[in-house]
Amino acid sequence: MSGLNLVLLGPPGSGKGTQGERLQEDLRLPYYATGDILRAAVRDETELGRTAKEYMDRGDLVPDDVIVGAIGERLALPEAADGFILDGFPRTVPQAEALAAALSALGKGLTTVLLVDVDDGEVMKRLGGRRTCAENGHVFHIEFNPPQQDGVCDVDGSTLIVRDDDKPDVIGRRLDQYHEKTEPLIAFYDHQSLLRRVDGSAAPEEVATEIHRMLATLKLEGDEAL
Ligand code: AP5
Repeated sequence: MSGLNLVLLGPPGSGKGTQGERLQEDLRLPYYATGDILRAAVRDETELGRTAKEYMDRGDLVPDDVIVGAIGERLALPEAADGFILDGFPRTVPQAEALAAALSALGKGLTTVLLVDVDDGEVMKRLGGRRTCAENGHVFHIEFNPPQQDGVCDVDGSTLIVRDDDKPDVIGRRLDQYHEKTEPLIAFYDHQSLLRRVDGSAAPEEVATEIHRMLATLKLEGDEAL
């Protein structure tokens, strides 16, 4: 689908990254996940990474101005001209307002915002058992999506690690931040008739099928409006 400007919204561990990776392959659109962008910056010890690290380690959101700059420059890239998938951005109302302004300056708007929703108990189970590939961020779960060989990434053979912010006390803080600062975006986008809800508690394949069904409906509605 071309011209699809998509946001994946949802609590930590709801499966945004899992679904985002699939969508990126299926739709062949650039995929901008702010968590991945920030972790790469921390690893490369850039100025962005040095600023973000202390917030991420605590489970806090990084300041809006820091993240808005990092995403704004990507949306203006030629590769994003025919659509993009945003994962983990926006995460606050000021970020959503900045995104709307940046897109408007490019003569664009969002097509839809997909809320991948799960409850807090499911988040604790998912993040507690997540294992992440140290090299390229591929994601597994010791129970729900185990790698073929313990501790080794199926895709590139690198070591699987527990993310620093997947420790139980930090997960709790991330959930608090989600409820306080990100959840208001549900009403924000609902009010603009952009929000679509997906039950993220189903198996990954079922969630993916539901997302594709929604996107097909959207495309149909778009075609009919022409
Ligand atoms: P980020 O990396 O974006 O973390 P997050 O939103 O907390 O999301 P996660 O990556 O933890 O989870 P996910 O929803 O992608 O789930 P996943 O698919 O991995 O951000 C990290 C930090 O960066 C933030 O805390 C903040 O400090 C900073 N940051 C980022 N963006 C920011 C912004 N815009 N503003 C300010 N700060 C920002 O799945 C989780 C696990 O569950 C995996 O093990 C997976 O295998 C499993 N799983 C997935 N789907 C299913 C399923 N359907 N059934 C069973 N298991 C499943």
